[in-house]
Amino acid sequence: MDRRPIGVFDSGLGGLTTVRQLLRILPNESILYFGDTGRVPYGNRGRDTIIRYAQQDVRFLMKHDVKAVVAACGTVSSVAHDVGDALPIPFIDVLRPTAKAAARASKNRRIGVIGTSATVSSGSYRRELLKLDPAIAVAEQACPLFVPLVESGFVSPEEPVTRLVAERYLAPLRDAGIDTLILGCTHFPIISETIRDVMGPDVTLVDAGREAAESCRKLLEENGLLTDSASPGEHRFFVSDLTESFYDVAALCLGRAVPGELERIDIETV
Ligand code: DGL
Repeated sequence: MDRRPIGVFDSGLGGLTTVRQLLRILPNESILYFGDTGRVPYGNRGRDTIIRYAQQDVRFLMKHDVKAVVAACGTVSSVAHDVGDALPIPFIDVLRPTAKAAARASKNRRIGVIGTSATVSSGSYRRELLKLDPAIAVAEQACPLFVPLVESGFVSPEEPVTRLVAERYLAPLRDAGIDTLILGCTHFPIISETIRDVMGPDVTLVDAGREAAESCRKLLEENGLLTDSASPGEHRFFVSDLTESFYDVAALCLGRAVPGELERIDIETV
Protein backbone atom coordinates (compact mmCIF):
# COMPACT_ATOMS: atom_id res chain seq x y z
CA MET A 1 0.00 0.00 0.00
CA ASP A 2 1.47 3.29 -1.05
CA ARG A 3 -0.03 6.77 -0.88
CA ARG A 4 2.65 8.49 -2.97
CA PRO A 5 1.38 10.04 -6.21
CA ILE A 6 1.56 8.53 -9.68
CA GLY A 7 3.78 10.74 -11.86
CA VAL A 8 2.43 11.45 -15.33
CA PHE A 9 4.15 13.53 -17.99
CA ASP A 10 3.47 14.71 -21.50
CA SER A 11 4.78 17.22 -24.01
CA GLY A 12 1.90 19.49 -23.03
CA LEU A 13 -1.70 19.18 -21.90
CA GLY A 14 -2.79 16.31 -24.16
CA GLY A 15 -1.57 13.84 -21.54
CA LEU A 16 -4.51 14.92 -19.40
CA THR A 17 -6.56 12.51 -21.54
CA THR A 18 -4.56 9.76 -19.82
CA VAL A 19 -5.03 11.40 -16.42
CA ARG A 20 -8.76 11.40 -17.13
CA GLN A 21 -8.61 7.61 -17.59
CA LEU A 22 -6.49 7.21 -14.44
CA LEU A 23 -8.97 9.24 -12.39
CA ARG A 24 -11.80 7.11 -13.76
CA ILE A 25 -10.29 3.77 -12.81
CA LEU A 26 -8.20 4.82 -9.79
CA PRO A 27 -10.14 7.69 -8.19
CA ASN A 28 -8.33 7.48 -4.85
CA GLU A 29 -4.84 7.71 -6.31
CA SER A 30 -3.05 11.05 -6.27
CA ILE A 31 -1.57 12.33 -9.52
CA LEU A 32 1.44 14.56 -10.05
CA TYR A 33 1.37 15.79 -13.64
CA PHE A 34 4.00 17.58 -15.66
CA GLY A 35 3.05 19.12 -19.01
CA ASP A 36 5.91 20.62 -20.99
CA THR A 37 3.77 23.47 -22.33
CA GLY A 38 6.84 25.64 -22.88
CA ARG A 39 8.34 23.20 -25.40
CA VAL A 40 5.28 21.54 -26.94
CA PRO A 41 4.96 20.09 -29.58
CA TYR A 42 7.44 17.23 -29.40
CA GLY A 43 5.87 15.48 -32.38
CA ASN A 44 7.74 17.35 -35.08
CA ARG A 45 11.13 17.40 -33.35
CA GLY A 46 14.18 15.23 -33.92
CA ARG A 47 14.97 12.09 -31.96
CA ASP A 48 17.82 13.51 -29.83
CA THR A 49 15.72 16.46 -28.69
CA ILE A 50 12.74 14.28 -27.81
CA ILE A 51 15.00 11.95 -25.80
CA ARG A 52 16.63 14.87 -23.95
CA TYR A 53 13.26 16.42 -23.13
CA ALA A 54 11.87 13.08 -21.96
CA GLN A 55 14.89 12.54 -19.67
CA GLN A 56 14.37 15.96 -18.09
CA ASP A 57 10.65 15.30 -17.65
CA VAL A 58 11.30 11.98 -15.91
CA ARG A 59 13.99 13.56 -13.71
CA PHE A 60 11.52 16.21 -12.59
CA LEU A 61 8.92 13.61 -11.61
CA MET A 62 11.51 11.49 -9.79
CA LYS A 63 12.44 14.48 -7.63
CA HIS A 64 8.88 14.47 -6.33
CA ASP A 65 9.00 10.94 -4.97
CA VAL A 66 6.37 9.41 -7.24
CA LYS A 67 5.64 5.69 -7.01
CA ALA A 68 5.34 5.12 -10.77
CA VAL A 69 5.95 7.12 -13.94
CA VAL A 70 3.49 7.19 -16.82
CA ALA A 71 4.69 8.58 -20.16
CA ALA A 72 1.34 9.72 -21.53
CA CYS A 73 2.93 11.19 -24.66
CA GLY A 74 2.67 9.06 -27.79
CA THR A 75 5.78 10.70 -29.22
CA VAL A 76 7.93 10.06 -26.13
CA SER A 77 6.62 6.49 -25.88
CA SER A 78 7.57 5.83 -29.51
CA VAL A 79 10.87 7.67 -29.76
CA ALA A 80 12.27 7.58 -26.22
CA HIS A 81 10.64 4.50 -24.72
CA ASP A 82 13.84 3.36 -22.96
CA VAL A 83 13.81 6.57 -20.88
CA GLY A 84 12.22 4.55 -18.05
CA ASP A 85 14.43 1.48 -18.27
CA ALA A 86 16.77 2.28 -15.39
CA LEU A 87 14.09 3.61 -13.02
CA PRO A 88 13.70 1.93 -9.62
CA ILE A 89 9.89 2.25 -9.87
CA PRO A 90 7.35 1.00 -12.46
CA PHE A 91 7.41 2.89 -15.76
CA ILE A 92 4.44 2.74 -18.10
CA ASP A 93 4.43 4.06 -21.65
CA VAL A 94 1.50 4.08 -24.03
CA LEU A 95 3.22 2.03 -26.74
CA ARG A 96 3.35 -1.49 -25.37
CA PRO A 97 -0.08 -1.81 -23.72
CA THR A 98 -1.74 -0.16 -26.72
CA ALA A 99 -0.06 -2.45 -29.25
CA LYS A 100 -1.13 -5.45 -27.15
CA ALA A 101 -4.74 -4.25 -26.96
CA ALA A 102 -4.84 -3.66 -30.72
CA ALA A 103 -3.38 -7.09 -31.49
CA ARG A 104 -6.04 -8.63 -29.22
CA ALA A 105 -8.85 -6.65 -30.86
CA SER A 106 -8.01 -7.23 -34.52
CA LYS A 107 -9.67 -10.14 -36.27
CA ASN A 108 -8.41 -9.57 -39.81
CA ARG A 109 -4.83 -8.79 -38.65
CA ARG A 110 -4.80 -5.41 -40.37
CA ILE A 111 -4.09 -2.64 -37.91
CA GLY A 112 -3.78 1.08 -38.50
CA VAL A 113 -1.70 3.50 -36.43
CA ILE A 114 -2.13 7.26 -36.31
CA GLY A 115 0.10 9.63 -34.37
CA THR A 116 2.43 12.58 -34.70
CA SER A 117 5.07 12.64 -37.44
CA ALA A 118 7.78 11.56 -34.98
CA THR A 119 5.65 8.67 -33.71
CA VAL A 120 4.93 7.34 -37.18
CA SER A 121 8.43 7.81 -38.56
CA SER A 122 9.92 6.01 -35.53
CA GLY A 123 8.18 2.81 -36.70
CA SER A 124 7.83 1.80 -33.02
CA TYR A 125 4.19 0.71 -33.21
CA ARG A 126 4.94 -1.32 -36.33
CA ARG A 127 7.85 -3.09 -34.60
CA GLU A 128 5.83 -3.70 -31.44
CA LEU A 129 2.86 -5.12 -33.37
CA LEU A 130 5.08 -7.38 -35.49
CA LYS A 131 6.79 -8.65 -32.34
CA LEU A 132 3.37 -9.70 -31.08
CA ASP A 133 2.35 -11.28 -34.38
CA PRO A 134 4.50 -11.19 -37.53
CA ALA A 135 1.37 -11.81 -39.63
CA ILE A 136 -0.11 -8.40 -38.78
CA ALA A 137 -0.22 -5.90 -41.65
CA VAL A 138 0.40 -2.41 -40.27
CA ALA A 139 -0.75 0.77 -42.01
CA GLU A 140 0.58 4.00 -40.49
CA GLN A 141 -0.39 7.60 -41.02
CA ALA A 142 0.97 10.76 -39.41
CA CYS A 143 -1.84 13.18 -38.55
CA PRO A 144 0.01 16.27 -37.30
CA LEU A 145 -2.83 18.71 -37.95
CA PHE A 146 -5.13 16.94 -35.51
CA VAL A 147 -3.14 18.38 -32.57
CA PRO A 148 -3.63 22.10 -33.35
CA LEU A 149 -7.22 21.43 -34.43
CA VAL A 150 -8.00 19.94 -31.02
CA GLU A 151 -6.12 22.69 -29.17
CA SER A 152 -8.08 25.28 -31.15
CA GLY A 153 -11.32 23.68 -29.98
CA PHE A 154 -12.36 22.30 -33.39
CA VAL A 155 -13.53 19.09 -31.76
CA SER A 156 -17.22 18.75 -32.48
CA PRO A 157 -18.12 15.85 -34.82
CA GLU A 158 -19.98 18.48 -36.90
CA GLU A 159 -16.84 20.58 -37.35
CA PRO A 160 -16.25 20.67 -41.14
CA VAL A 161 -12.55 21.57 -41.02
CA THR A 162 -11.65 18.65 -38.76
CA ARG A 163 -13.85 16.35 -40.79
CA LEU A 164 -12.12 17.35 -44.03
CA VAL A 165 -8.65 16.86 -42.55
CA ALA A 166 -9.74 13.48 -41.13
CA GLU A 167 -11.05 12.36 -44.53
CA ARG A 168 -7.70 13.22 -46.13
CA TYR A 169 -5.55 11.56 -43.48
CA LEU A 170 -7.65 8.46 -42.97
CA ALA A 171 -8.50 7.56 -46.58
CA PRO A 172 -5.36 5.36 -47.04
CA LEU A 173 -6.16 3.50 -43.82
CA ARG A 174 -9.71 2.87 -44.96
CA ASP A 175 -8.36 1.62 -48.29
CA ALA A 176 -5.98 -0.70 -46.43
CA GLY A 177 -9.00 -2.52 -44.96
CA ILE A 178 -7.94 -2.23 -41.33
CA ASP A 179 -10.37 -3.41 -38.65
CA THR A 180 -8.51 -1.79 -35.73
CA LEU A 181 -7.05 1.69 -35.41
CA ILE A 182 -4.59 2.82 -32.73
CA LEU A 183 -5.13 6.40 -31.60
CA GLY A 184 -1.43 6.85 -30.89
CA CYS A 185 -1.48 10.47 -29.78
CA THR A 186 -2.80 12.12 -26.62
CA HIS A 187 -5.16 14.42 -28.49
CA PHE A 188 -6.91 11.95 -30.74
CA PRO A 189 -9.47 10.49 -28.28
CA ILE A 190 -11.01 13.98 -28.15
CA ILE A 191 -12.00 13.72 -31.81
CA SER A 192 -12.73 10.00 -31.72
CA GLU A 193 -16.29 10.57 -32.92
CA THR A 194 -15.05 12.25 -36.09
CA ILE A 195 -12.48 9.50 -36.60
CA ARG A 196 -15.16 6.85 -36.03
CA ASP A 197 -17.51 8.54 -38.51
CA VAL A 198 -14.82 8.55 -41.18
CA MET A 199 -13.53 5.01 -40.53
CA GLY A 200 -16.99 3.44 -40.18
CA PRO A 201 -18.56 1.37 -37.40
CA ASP A 202 -16.61 -1.83 -38.12
CA VAL A 203 -13.25 -0.37 -37.15
CA THR A 204 -12.32 -0.68 -33.46
CA LEU A 205 -10.57 2.40 -32.07
CA VAL A 206 -7.91 1.71 -29.45
CA ASP A 207 -7.33 4.61 -27.07
CA ALA A 208 -3.67 4.68 -25.98
CA GLY A 209 -4.42 6.66 -22.80
CA ARG A 210 -7.03 4.17 -21.67
CA GLU A 211 -4.66 1.24 -22.24
CA ALA A 212 -1.80 2.98 -20.42
CA ALA A 213 -4.06 3.75 -17.44
CA GLU A 214 -5.21 0.13 -17.28
CA SER A 215 -1.62 -1.07 -17.52
CA CYS A 216 -0.67 1.33 -14.70
CA ARG A 217 -3.45 -0.05 -12.50
CA LYS A 218 -2.26 -3.62 -13.10
CA LEU A 219 1.39 -2.81 -12.40
CA LEU A 220 0.56 -0.97 -9.17
CA GLU A 221 -1.57 -3.89 -8.07
CA GLU A 222 1.10 -6.48 -8.90
CA ASN A 223 3.72 -4.48 -7.03
CA GLY A 224 1.55 -3.81 -3.96
CA LEU A 225 1.64 -0.08 -4.69
CA LEU A 226 -2.06 0.79 -4.83
CA THR A 227 -3.17 3.38 -2.30
CA ASP A 228 -5.13 2.31 0.76
CA SER A 229 -6.79 5.72 0.98
CA ALA A 230 -10.59 5.68 0.95
CA SER A 231 -10.91 9.29 -0.17
CA PRO A 232 -10.29 10.90 -3.55
CA GLY A 233 -6.65 11.55 -4.46
CA GLU A 234 -4.98 14.95 -4.21
CA HIS A 235 -3.49 16.21 -7.43
CA ARG A 236 -0.73 18.61 -8.42
CA PHE A 237 -0.15 19.97 -11.91
CA PHE A 238 3.09 21.45 -13.15
CA VAL A 239 3.71 23.17 -16.48
CA SER A 240 6.76 24.79 -18.07
CA ASP A 241 4.69 27.69 -19.42
CA LEU A 242 1.36 29.03 -18.32
CA THR A 243 -0.34 29.87 -21.59
CA GLU A 244 -3.55 31.82 -22.02
CA SER A 245 -5.35 28.77 -23.37
CA PHE A 246 -4.25 26.56 -20.48
CA TYR A 247 -7.60 26.30 -18.73
CA ASP A 248 -9.60 25.70 -21.92
CA VAL A 249 -7.27 23.06 -23.35
CA ALA A 250 -6.79 21.39 -19.97
CA ALA A 251 -10.55 21.17 -19.41
CA LEU A 252 -11.03 19.77 -22.90
CA CYS A 253 -8.46 17.02 -22.32
CA LEU A 254 -9.43 16.25 -18.74
CA GLY A 255 -13.18 16.52 -19.26
CA ARG A 256 -13.46 18.91 -16.30
CA ALA A 257 -11.66 21.80 -14.67
CA VAL A 258 -8.18 21.00 -13.40
CA PRO A 259 -8.66 19.70 -9.83
CA GLY A 260 -5.73 20.74 -7.69
CA GLU A 261 -2.75 23.01 -7.47
CA LEU A 262 -1.12 24.42 -10.59
CA GLU A 263 2.48 25.54 -10.64
CA ARG A 264 4.86 26.77 -13.31
CA ILE A 265 8.42 25.42 -13.26
CA ASP A 266 11.61 25.83 -15.28
CA ILE A 267 12.20 22.33 -16.66
CA GLU A 268 15.69 23.19 -17.93
CA THR A 269 16.98 23.82 -14.41
CA VAL A 270 15.22 21.22 -12.27
N1 DGL B 1 1.55 14.60 -26.75
C1 DGL B 1 1.96 14.40 -28.12
C2 DGL B 1 1.75 12.93 -28.49
O1 DGL B 1 0.97 12.24 -27.90
C3 DGL B 1 1.18 15.28 -29.08
C4 DGL B 1 1.61 16.74 -29.05
C5 DGL B 1 3.06 16.94 -29.45
O2 DGL B 1 3.39 16.82 -30.65
O3 DGL B 1 3.86 17.16 -28.57
O4 DGL B 1 2.41 12.46 -29.38
